[in-house]
Amino acid sequence: MKKIINEAVQILRQGGLVAFPTETVYGLGADARNPEALIKLFKAKGRPIDHPVIVHIADSSQLEEWAVEISDTARLLINRFWPGPLTLILKKAPDVLDIVTGGQLTIGLRSPNHPLAIELLKNFGGGIAAPSANRFGRISPTTAEAVIEELNGAVDRVIEGGPCEVGVESTIVDVSGEECLLLRPGMITVAEIEAVLQKPLMPKNQKSPRVSGALETHYAPLTETVLVENMESYVAGLLKEDLVALVTRGDFQTTQLQIKLSNEPKQYAHDLYQVLRELDKKKLKRIAIEMVPLDPSWDAVRDRLLKAASGRIF
Ligand code: TXA
Ligand code: MG
Repeated sequence: MKKIINEAVQILRQGGLVAFPTETVYGLGADARNPEALIKLFKAKGRPIDHPVIVHIADSSQLEEWAVEISDTARLLINRFWPGPLTLILKKAPDVLDIVTGGQLTIGLRSPNHPLAIELLKNFGGGIAAPSANRFGRISPTTAEAVIEELNGAVDRVIEGGPCEVGVESTIVDVSGEECLLLRPGMITVAEIEAVLQKPLMPKNQKSPRVSGALETHYAPLTETVLVENMESYVAGLLKEDLVALVTRGDFQTTQLQIKLSNEPKQYAHDLYQVLRELDKKKLKRIAIEMVPLDPSWDAVRDRLLKAASGRIF
């Protein structure tokens, strides 16, 4: 393992790209202080240049190298949840590169909880800019094989770390202003964060995320994907020859291809992207996913499903 990490550190120092496992999804890493490496990173992903990337750090002792005016609220969250699947948006330090922040005055920082990521960050010493290691808009990779599929050739090294434990991207909380805002739900829930803050975590905006069409397509398979409120009546309307895969939770009688995911949100999140990735290879007409419960424990999964389906709900 020492050799793998040392080689990866050398690649990063030389401005190369290293994909590495985190507890959420695999990241595509570059030296966050090297503009050429960052340009390479954006090109490899096909990502628009004004989209900010998260900087990963080994631990909170490096915070001041990247952020200023770190509030007590931010410290509370860091003490409770780092290392872990929580990204904080903070006011950026003056010398942070524009390409990292998308020209904004804030920076996203996270200290991941994965032994290989921690080892890589410690040995590298600096911050590693790392978006999820997928092509822009596609499904985040949760295995090393998925990274290779996504980025074939555009990455200098992939560190193999097996399947990611969480399976969906980190919770993002903006603590750069007066109010704490939830920018992206994740496995660390609103309730867990509010319990630490002792004040409400506000949604990013008041617009209902369930309005069809108001959503960006993201985390999306290439195959048309829909969310289904009532599987029974949906299936009744399908033709026998329709090549539709059904992603359900409980038991459900059907002659269509059916993938059963867990009734428990953590296990469901762990399996979701890998299942979508496999189904996407089958050249189906459609992937129909059973809607998940409204309970907050499903927020992260529901958010990803709505984006995968571009808000299409039956
Ligand atoms: O779990 C994760 O967060 C994974 C692993 C690799 O750490 N990373 C990840 O990165 O999901 P990415 O780039 O795929 O998603 C990061 C999100 C983007 O939607 C980006 O717009 C947002 O974080 N973001 C980054 N910096 C920001 C900033 N300064 N202000 C607002 N949003 C920011
Ligand atoms: Mg991403």
